[in-house]
Amino acid sequence: MPPTTPLTTMTQDELKALVGRAALAYVEPGQIIGVGTGSTVNCFIDALATMRDRIAGAVSSSEASTQRLRAHGIRVFDANDVDELAVYIDGADEIDPRGYMIKGGGAALTREKIVAAMARRFVCIADQSKWVETLGRFPLPVEVIPMAARRLMRQFAALGGEARLRLRDGAPLVTDNGQHVLDVHGLRIDDPLAFESMVNDWPGVVTVGVFAHQRAHVCLLGTPEGVRTIAFDGSAA
Ligand code: 5RP
Repeated sequence: MPPTTPLTTMTQDELKALVGRAALAYVEPGQIIGVGTGSTVNCFIDALATMRDRIAGAVSSSEASTQRLRAHGIRVFDANDVDELAVYIDGADEIDPRGYMIKGGGAALTREKIVAAMARRFVCIADQSKWVETLGRFPLPVEVIPMAARRLMRQFAALGGEARLRLRDGAPLVTDNGQHVLDVHGLRIDDPLAFESMVNDWPGVVTVGVFAHQRAHVCLLGTPEGVRTIAFDGSAA
């Protein structure tokens, strides 16, 4: 009997690199590109460097991405100097079949939402572990004004969630915007649009990590069989 061919096994990092490279197909020459944050986006930035002479530059969603872009010689524009972006490319902590996402695992959610809002198209790049039927398994990041943290924890408790202050080296993590992050465990988010609007209205919330009003238009999902392209807006992916 011939030996059985082993199934392709790719690590999560290899899947991230795969979708990072695949996202180059959405980069139009001469454009300013909206760039997200995180390890998957780092793969995209490294791939983008191969065409740095053919793009005008980037608008970045974090200090970390800005540093990486600049290290590759890619010009970073201030968001206020750009009217609109053709595309925003970013990762996600969870994405569902409607293109709704949880983001903020890298604490960059506020700037990510701002840059996403500037773009006509949001391309989400993610490995298959991020695909979920219903949002909420990943603890929901919420950027908050520090003086509101305790009160907001009680508000999430009333919804059945347990909000924990995110720490780094034993002290509250401070975002690029000088604020804190709560990670809310135990939520099941059945109506992401309504949930996002509700939490956004709570005093002291800077940004909630549900991206429903700024959902993805396309997801490039890394699987061992290759990149699956999923379009959520009915357009050709
Ligand atoms: C950062 C984010 C990231 O997109 C999200 O955390 C996914 O990160 P990674 O690509 O490292 O898995 O929202 O705030």
